[in-house]
Amino acid sequence: MASSLLRILFLGAVASALTISEINGPKYLSPYNGQNVTNVSGIVTAKGPSGVFIRSVKPDKDDRTSDSIYVFNRNFGANLTVGDEIVLNGKVEEFRSNKDYVYLTEIASPELVEIVSSGNKVKALVIGKDTVKPPTEQYSSLDGGDVFALPNNETLVSVANPTLNPKKFGMDFWESLTGELVTVRKPRVITKPNNFGDTWVVGDWKVTGENKRGGLTMTDKDANPETIVIGSPLDGSNNPKDTRIGDELSEITGVVTYAFGFYRILPTTAITVKKAIEPKLPGATSLVSSEKCDGITFGAYNVENLWVGSKHLPDIAAHIVTYMKSPDLIFVQEVQDNNGPTNDAVVSANETLATLAAAIATAGGPEYTFSEVAPSDDKDGGAPGGNIRVAYLYKPSLIRLYKSNPGMAMDANEVLPGPTLKYNPGRIDPANEAWTSSRKPLVAQWEIIGNGKGGNKGTFFTVNVHFGSKGGSSSLHGDARPPVNGGVEDRLVQAQLTANFIKAILDQDRNAKVITAGDFNEFSFVEPLEQYVKISGLKDLDQVAKIKDEERYTYQFDMNTQQLDHMYISKSLEKKAKYEHIHINTWEIGAAQISDHDPSVAKLDVCA
Ligand SMILES: *[C@@H]1O[C@H](CO)[C@@H](O)[C@H](O)[C@H]1NC(C)=O
Ligand SMILES: *[C@@H]1O[C@H](CO)[C@@H](O)[C@H](O)[C@H]1NC(C)=O
Ligand SMILES: *[C@@H]1O[C@H](CO)[C@@H](O)[C@H](O)[C@H]1NC(C)=O
Ligand SMILES: *[C@@H]1O[C@H](CO)[C@@H](O)[C@H](O)[C@H]1NC(C)=O
Ligand SMILES: *[C@@H]1O[C@H](CO)[C@@H](O)[C@H](O)[C@H]1NC(C)=O
Repeated sequence: MASSLLRILFLGAVASALTISEINGPKYLSPYNGQNVTNVSGIVTAKGPSGVFIRSVKPDKDDRTSDSIYVFNRNFGANLTVGDEIVLNGKVEEFRSNKDYVYLTEIASPELVEIVSSGNKVKALVIGKDTVKPPTEQYSSLDGGDVFALPNNETLVSVANPTLNPKKFGMDFWESLTGELVTVRKPRVITKPNNFGDTWVVGDWKVTGENKRGGLTMTDKDANPETIVIGSPLDGSNNPKDTRIGDELSEITGVVTYAFGFYRILPTTAITVKKAIEPKLPGATSLVSSEKCDGITFGAYNVENLWVGSKHLPDIAAHIVTYMKSPDLIFVQEVQDNNGPTNDAVVSANETLATLAAAIATAGGPEYTFSEVAPSDDKDGGAPGGNIRVAYLYKPSLIRLYKSNPGMAMDANEVLPGPTLKYNPGRIDPANEAWTSSRKPLVAQWEIIGNGKGGNKGTFFTVNVHFGSKGGSSSLHGDARPPVNGGVEDRLVQAQLTANFIKAILDQDRNAKVITAGDFNEFSFVEPLEQYVKISGLKDLDQVAKIKDEERYTYQFDMNTQQLDHMYISKSLEKKAKYEHIHINTWEIGAAQISDHDPSVAKLDVCA
């Protein structure tokens, strides 16, 4: 009784004349969370639509404790001007708009005690010069050194509340600057903006993972915490939505805050391009078919919900002809049924694929035909009614299915002596629950017309995949650590099932020629694909073709260029193997991109 009374008295007590750095403290959460504070002094450094940002008149020398803070109240700034030194009372609060986000410390319910003086000089801290340098590899001490380690979501920042180490961890770095007015020198766009104009940048500080275009590519244990997103300008103007990876921007000054799952800088005014990147778009692949078994070209392209009525269908066809140079065989993903989003019993995509083939011919390409196994209605996930599936386009003048014998949606393919396939093409273990609401891989065996050496020596196998999506992931700046990698448990089993099927082919014939490609929805250094390689014995074609780690990307998401689309090949195909990613969509502005993925092209000797 007595102790709880004391506790109430203690919590009710007012802390007097704290500095802003004392209010922020050296951790994520304020030691004064929920308490009233009086006579807090600060200079107004910026004004936003819902409050003002103030900086301590007595900054401390501690890199962990921000000397600035956000004062949240729509009207509080009405009579204040940047440069005013003020004294205020208020209540320390930790705010977040979503339970998966990190809290932002702020002073709420402010009352102005006095304006002490006006016209004080306000100088932004130059990032990397007046602050420690942004860490380049790790996000949080709670990630165990690998932001993609499994299991996910072992700890929450809001519960563990770790002491900040801004020299080592990117989230700690930005947290240690919340509320602060900062300048980014020599900013460069690293991923194209979202629909709100939010634009990820880096400044003149050291970065890792930089690709030739100027973006930062995610690599093993390095997901680029040295980056920051530039959010909505404080003056109500709008950031451009047509910037590209690599565009150079004019210097940015703004305040550090946290919103929509990320630390961010709200610039005082809209960002502007100083020097636009050139060339705007990449060139075509250099890989062209020899039209013989010693130089067959393989394309892979996630064509993003393509159906007969898609506006982007002719553009996809043009990409295949112009940028991919009409590969001999194309692994396509996200092909919808013939009436696309119409949610009825139609599952066949034969009209979709025939329309695409016709559009390719119209664009000046060769004659293609196609092969698919239609899924069961509404069982493979994706956009409602679309029944997305993987499929093959191929040149019938050069390639054919070896003893064609297509399976049905629920027919489980098997490896028969030969090795050959029970169904050609056929799906892998379609009834397995790992494929619930997901695409089943399509396995096929092919022969080259006229160039084969007869028997199985002249054939090769392909496995076209589109593993489960990353939906439900939490942000790299989110509360859950390591961050939630949505669907990773499903992808792990999907990878194991697919790899075991391939292993059964290679167990019969270690020289069998196997090519797998598609949208794996995962990075090569995360467990599902690590196991995929280990079980199947296949080689990552990026490694075989010696593509630099930084140039391995087919997608952009938040701050990273990243690789979701891969090709893996069996050992007998390694010699002379070539591979290119064509960044036609990641380099394009948002409004003009045709698919959200880049296509890739490989050239392989399938008669070696
Ligand atoms: C904080 O101040 C408000 C308004 O002055 C008051 O209503 C509230 O009881 C105070 N809270 C504490 C914990 O002292
Ligand atoms: C706040 O400052 C005013 C004026 O300097 C002073 O009168 C008052 O006692 C201070 N309040 C607290 C709680 O320290
Ligand atoms: C601003 O100043 C005016 C005039 O002194 C006063 O009426 C008003 O309440 C002040 N507004 C705020 C939000 O302090
Ligand atoms: C698609 O399949 C249906 C049903 O088998 C058939 O009638 C139609 O001709 C096919 N269309 C094309 C373009 O192959
Ligand atoms: C992480 O786990 C917590 C429980 O510890 C849960 O409340 C939260 O929803 C999880 N986060 C995500 C993004 O799944």
